Amino acid sequence: MSQVIIVSNRLPVSVKKEDGRLKFYPSVGGLATGLSSYVNDKHNTWIGWPGIASDGLTDDDKDQIVRELAKHHCSPVFLTQRQIDDFYNGYSNSLLWPLFHNLPLKQKAGQERDRWWRAYREVNTRFAEAVMNVAGERSNIWVHDYQLLLVPEMLRTDRFGGTLGFFLHIPFPAPRTFERLPGHKTLLKGMLGANLIGFHTSGYVEAFLDSCRSAGSGEVDSGQVFMDGRLVRVAEFPMGIDYQKYAGARKSKTVKKAVRKYRKRYKSQKLIVSVDRLDPSKGLEERLKAYRQLLERNPDLRNKITFSMVVAPSRTNIPAYRNLARRLDKLVAEINSAHGTNEWLPVDHIYKTLPFEEVSALFKIADVAFIAPLRDGMNLAAKEFVASARRAGVLILSQTAGAAEELQDALLVNPRDPEMLVAALEQALKMRKRELRRRLKSMQRQLAGNTVQDWAHGFVEALQKPVPGTPVRTRTLKAKLRSRLLEDYRQAGKRLLLLDYDGSLVPFSENYKEARPPESLTDLLKRLSADPRNEVILVSGRSVHDLKTWFGKLPIGLIAEHGAAVRKPGNKSWRTIEKVDTRWKQTIRPILEKYVGLAPGARLETKPHSLVWHYRSASPYYAQKYAVVIRRVLKPLIKRWGLEIMQGNKVLEIKNPRVSKGAAVQPWLKRKYGFVLALGDDVTDEELFAVLSDDVYSIKIGHGRTAARFRLNSHRDTLSLLQKMAKS
Ligand code: G6P
Repeated sequence: MSQVIIVSNRLPVSVKKEDGRLKFYPSVGGLATGLSSYVNDKHNTWIGWPGIASDGLTDDDKDQIVRELAKHHCSPVFLTQRQIDDFYNGYSNSLLWPLFHNLPLKQKAGQERDRWWRAYREVNTRFAEAVMNVAGERSNIWVHDYQLLLVPEMLRTDRFGGTLGFFLHIPFPAPRTFERLPGHKTLLKGMLGANLIGFHTSGYVEAFLDSCRSAGSGEVDSGQVFMDGRLVRVAEFPMGIDYQKYAGARKSKTVKKAVRKYRKRYKSQKLIVSVDRLDPSKGLEERLKAYRQLLERNPDLRNKITFSMVVAPSRTNIPAYRNLARRLDKLVAEINSAHGTNEWLPVDHIYKTLPFEEVSALFKIADVAFIAPLRDGMNLAAKEFVASARRAGVLILSQTAGAAEELQDALLVNPRDPEMLVAALEQALKMRKRELRRRLKSMQRQLAGNTVQDWAHGFVEALQKPVPGTPVRTRTLKAKLRSRLLEDYRQAGKRLLLLDYDGSLVPFSENYKEARPPESLTDLLKRLSADPRNEVILVSGRSVHDLKTWFGKLPIGLIAEHGAAVRKPGNKSWRTIEKVDTRWKQTIRPILEKYVGLAPGARLETKPHSLVWHYRSASPYYAQKYAVVIRRVLKPLIKRWGLEIMQGNKVLEIKNPRVSKGAAVQPWLKRKYGFVLALGDDVTDEELFAVLSDDVYSIKIGHGRTAARFRLNSHRDTLSLLQKMAKS
């Protein structure tokens, strides 16, 4: 494999200087574990800041740091105290961080923000330069997180020609929030320098694409942005944990010792645990207040419960973080003095970074993990708890944490709704063993199947996949081009018209069953096919039944189900393509039915050769969510049966890849015509466009990237063009 270069603000190894001597220690966080297989390879490099200001370092110190880090295949970018203040504490953590987490921003004077922005650009440039120093022609570069949003574009400008990935570890906000940032277009452009952009959830992917649309950055399609002649893929890669490390920890001696320690400390009390970094996004005060409510409402819990709240100090140079630490201390003291006794401490506030073994022990013995951040990119602690809690333990988790998309068996809460938090705590404390185990088991299965190692490999693999060739330049079919088309049509002795139906000749309807053609359309097709020079073929994804009912009487060719069945012009009978196995439908159908039930408004269509999950009329939230879940759930089955999931316009269609519009039109493409027109609006039509020669008038209806040569805006334009053809 060619070289992989990881770029992140923080290196996996940090440096501090104590009594004039340098000390090296591992940085906290899951990223290092996930990437370890890459970083252990000496051909690869990790570039980042070693966590110390360069001002206090002598040249010898720097030398020693470079040498020591090189042993770990790391390469430092040194930052001065001023850069740390303005780039890291300022722009990154006092502006981007709160904005991306939907937290209120402190109103800052313009001057300060300008200075932060300049430092942000300056430091991003330093990182890009450091990368260019070590990158070769064929390196794969993987840039991480919000501190380095400009780096991908900077590398492009520096003429880096290899593959370039970017991953955001925090949420991506909705366009209206993102647009509050004066430089937001520059930031989008910065990210779009990459070939592949990854997020934790499908929600963030959509929010990012919405922002690109809204800012007019590139041409946006589902899962991709087309920009400056390049295709940028955008996808979700939910980060996992080192599952075995947590699940297997109970066997370790140190963990066993820590378990004994905490058992003794909390005696036989019910134990609620939370583990977070100190951060305004974590909703720590909300959690404490909910716990206080719980105690007030349930006097019987006196002496019988402890909330062990572990908070790791973080970003303590930022006033908002220092103030939060102070408020937490005060709130904890209030609760403990109002409710506690000499023998009983209701809240055990542990304000330090606990080593893995201690966290693991706490998770193992906890009855409840109370993880309710206001907003969180992923939240790995929730996952670590699930892996550690062998057979008991209830997870309360915010809907607004990325992890909630996968951990559907947690008690999901709205962290800003105090009542809901208290109710969840009560429910968790009362939950029956059987139910609790069922929930845990199902979540454990999920997590064991997508570890942080899988995550990293998945991303790098996707990054190395060849980017589809540069698409043809598609031109809008304006007046001049249209006259040329009509002229060619008139001149031709034999003409072939390949017409898609839904979205191209008629608009999409809420219910797919209701898209029957208006009389004007059947009339138009009749007139076109009456001309002996014309051969008209409808190339549709519709079932034979629909096409027969609507167009059976016309002397036109009909291609149904994306090519599974064909009726030639003038024929009565249909020919089905060579037998393809459809036994898979029995297995997959009930699964899709389940998600029809879960996403109100969704529908299932059963065709002889395919199954279609329609979600146009489902609420967008559920539609999006279950479209992702279905893909994930079906993945192994799709592989086993050699099927494909085709993403159409608000539909997921499961079919055999041998069936395609491109394959179905082959018999016609072998003949000679003086004029060929092909039009379509959807992914399935791209399979048709892909097999056409360069002289065909291929027309994409609507937005989105396409292999077609021309574009029309809507089915209305198509109809008006066809009317003109019928008249001439
Ligand atoms: C979040 C961010 C990371 C960051 C970490 C710790 O997880 O996504 O980029 O490294 O917090 O924050 P710190 O400011 O200490 O690096």
